[in-house]
Amino acid sequence: MIGRLNHVAIAVPDLAAAAATYRDTLGAKVSAPMDLPEHGVTVVFVELPNTKIELLHPLGDNSPIKKFLESNPAGGVHHLSFDVDDIIAARDRLKAAGKRVLGDGEPKTGAHGTPVLFLHPKDFNGTLVEVEEVA
Ligand code: CO
Repeated sequence: MIGRLNHVAIAVPDLAAAAATYRDTLGAKVSAPMDLPEHGVTVVFVELPNTKIELLHPLGDNSPIKKFLESNPAGGVHHLSFDVDDIIAARDRLKAAGKRVLGDGEPKTGAHGTPVLFLHPKDFNGTLVEVEEVA
């Protein structure tokens, strides 16, 4: 069921500084910042040969990563995202295995315009997991 690692998302307190580290120090291809108001984040995509890193910064007062950064002021790994072929089949299989799907259990449109779901960190060794349906 699980496919490739789609991205690792890292919450950062200073988006420009984090982007500069990946671009200038590590030599990665880094996108311009993109505001995603419906997700409460501004994101910079870092393209690596085998996956992506997403640098997340809070956008607005209700940002889902605001509390995370309060607890992790230097930033930190926020979630991992894995490709799946069929997100409804993946959700049903995970639920049948007793894994908790966050929110109302219906896929939302993620940062790449594809359907995503998030899974409870307590069911995945303390790691927030996203599954993303790739065409
Ligand atoms: Co993500």
